[in-house]
Amino acid sequence: MDRKEFARRRRQFMRMIGKDAIAILPAAPVRHRNGDIEYAYRQDSHFHYLCGFPEPEAVAVLVPGRPQGEYLLFVRERDSLRESWDGARAGTEGAVERYGADDAFPIADIDEILPGLMESRPQVYYSMGAHPDFDMHVRSWVNSLRVQGRQTGAPHEFVALRHVLDDMRLYKSRAEQVTLRRAAQITVGAHRRAMRFARPGRMEYEVMAEVLHEFRSHNADISYYPIVGGGANACVMHYRDNNQPLCEGDLLLLDAGCEHDYYASDITRTFPVSGRFTPCQRAIYELVLEAQLAAIDKVRSGNHWNHPHEAAVRVITQGLVKLGLLKGKVTALIKDQAYLQFFSHRTGHWLGLDVHDVGDYKVGGEWRVLEPGMVLTVEPGIYIRPSPRVPKEFWNIGVRIEDEVLVTGAEADVLTGALEKTPEAVEALVQAA
Ligand code: GLY
Ligand code: MN
Ligand code: MN
Repeated sequence: MDRKEFARRRRQFMRMIGKDAIAILPAAPVRHRNGDIEYAYRQDSHFHYLCGFPEPEAVAVLVPGRPQGEYLLFVRERDSLRESWDGARAGTEGAVERYGADDAFPIADIDEILPGLMESRPQVYYSMGAHPDFDMHVRSWVNSLRVQGRQTGAPHEFVALRHVLDDMRLYKSRAEQVTLRRAAQITVGAHRRAMRFARPGRMEYEVMAEVLHEFRSHNADISYYPIVGGGANACVMHYRDNNQPLCEGDLLLLDAGCEHDYYASDITRTFPVSGRFTPCQRAIYELVLEAQLAAIDKVRSGNHWNHPHEAAVRVITQGLVKLGLLKGKVTALIKDQAYLQFFSHRTGHWLGLDVHDVGDYKVGGEWRVLEPGMVLTVEPGIYIRPSPRVPKEFWNIGVRIEDEVLVTGAEADVLTGALEKTPEAVEALVQAA
């Protein structure tokens, strides 16, 4: 993403926190996996959002009051031995020249420099609890100032950074929309590849391998661990073993999305591995699809967050009554949440740098009103576990259909709309193997 985009975000952020404040953001720590091995490094989303600086052991400090607002980075120093093992570092010079910092210092000097920057700035914007090891440093800097404050009269209060940043991140800029579209496009390709590949006898992990191949071939990675659930596994909400064979007559629920240039994608498709839905599978599939389309239709500026979910609940409850899987009056069943037995999750979440992105769903106790630039998923599902109250031919059918939707001033813009989802189109794709 362009450097100007990060500079624009920092300016907006500094305007919002006011000139008496200071903001401190640590980079994500390197996480140990086992033995000598670390997890692949992924920058903290808030830090990335404002800085675009990809290295660990870094701290960003934003000081609005200094005439134009100052952006300081504490970073690892250049070190030819370490760089010969772990790769290049920007160093203080690179932080200024390549990442737009107004000034940069070695991370080792932070204890000396940071308390001075905080002096006479009563509000410290910081995400307490997000990086526990770093919290201790921040507390000690503030405490040292509080002790001195007896003479200077400068109390400090912490303000949760997320109140400001979460809200900013909820509205996707043009550049963010372009990146989200690209992530969606790569993920669409991966799902198509998986549908063409799947057939009875193949393993869930082989389908996952196809997905990963497509992601990595486009310089993308996973934004969450994929769910590749065949047969009864489709009814396990967070199924991740992905190690079972696909059998004749199974549905396969594939929930997989890539992360491209830090932005997440999140798509689910469900399809018959033999290339043809059974009548019961098809009935459930069509019902989920109808619910999803009704929910997407409610994604429009001015509606509130829960409108799409309410639409999905209504369609699913009506459909389950028609199929004889729920008994009673639709209104009463909705009121009693009888649908939870089959549709136990909500219809979506915000999407952005995090797959379950930041942003409040309620404001002042009321559902948030949808506005242009917001991006959310729409993903109703029906999962039927074996039960004496359900005819056997419906057992172990699990269907979810998930797309990503951008709120616009007019109709919803389905970022993942290119991916096949009518039963006929899905069957044709699986048969095209
Ligand atoms: N893949 C995570 C979700 O759909 O929310
Ligand atoms: Mn999702
Ligand atoms: Mn998903």
